[in-house]
Amino acid sequence: MEDVSDPPFRAVCKANGADLMYTEFISSEGLIRDAAKSKKKLDVFDYERPIGIQLFGSDVDTMGECARISTEAGPDLIDINYGCPVKQVACRGAGAALLRDIPKMVDMTAAVVRNTPLPVTVKTRLGWDDTTKNVVEVAERLQDVGIEALTVHGRTRVQMYKGDADWRLIAKIKENPRIRIPIFGNGDIDSPQKALEYKNRYGVDGVMIGRASIGYPWIFREVKHYVATGELLAPPTVEERVAMCRMHFEKSLEWKGQRAGIFEMRRHYAQYFRGLEGAKQWRTRLVDAEQPEIIREILEEIIAAEPVMVG
Ligand SMILES: Cc1cc2nc3c(=O)[nH]c(=O)nc-3n(C[C@H](O)[C@H](O)[C@H](O)COP(=O)(O)O)c2cc1C
Repeated sequence: MEDVSDPPFRAVCKANGADLMYTEFISSEGLIRDAAKSKKKLDVFDYERPIGIQLFGSDVDTMGECARISTEAGPDLIDINYGCPVKQVACRGAGAALLRDIPKMVDMTAAVVRNTPLPVTVKTRLGWDDTTKNVVEVAERLQDVGIEALTVHGRTRVQMYKGDADWRLIAKIKENPRIRIPIFGNGDIDSPQKALEYKNRYGVDGVMIGRASIGYPWIFREVKHYVATGELLAPPTVEERVAMCRMHFEKSLEWKGQRAGIFEMRRHYAQYFRGLEGAKQWRTRLVDAEQPEIIREILEEIIAAEPVMVG
């Protein structure tokens, strides 16, 4: 997820059992221009394996070249984003825009597959709009040019994030006897019960979780525990919340440096302490703090205050 799934965020997800993670999507145009922001996103670490680098772009040759550049960064797989709905991406011929031009999507995918020895996976949506839900065809065509797994978010581009994700077409892909690659379902999974229910109901090989993991990386261990035992794990304690937030913070400092590390961590505090007595006040103090030592002290204070869950 853009501006979310950077290495510090991925570290806390991995610590809680995420099986497979991806980088934020990386602009192929940025990479080819050698833009520092795009290149930094290629950083992957051994502790996060298996890890995929996700690329997006509108030009077939540039995407092919970027598959080569990304392979040198040492990920376990390369993923192509054909799902991003935002204007700046989809209206420039990238992301979900490729759902309107299947021949080009097929060429682009083939170019990426040709330019890397790594497995290539794809993330997409149901189609562009309600009248063009073509993902069943897309799955087959992309499998034919060599992708090794497909993840489908159960909304169209036009829907953006509105309404409920509809997984029925994702089930249709699985029902196609020609499909032999793993199919992952995505959209609105926010509890262990829903993860298992959707996996079984729609027959997918796995589920991908996005928003529910933001500030709540425990979702991964909760889902895995529930799938394995049928039992719900107790929610994280205050100590666990603080420890995870602290790990995220320290990794942010390490990877981004002090200034950006402190600044970019601010968007995560509200989620880590959501539902905790006094959460608003803790968050305000953490967001106002400008020195790592002060942030560490506030985190210690939270534990010492022994706040209870109120929401
Ligand atoms: C802030 C944000 C950034 C996202 N960035 C990406 C991205 O870079 N690549 C991608 O494939 N999907 C991205 N997505 C979409 C999610 O991966 C996912 O498909 C979508 O949120 C639905 O799943 P969820 O209900 O589990 O969140 C992003 C979503 C959000 C909310």
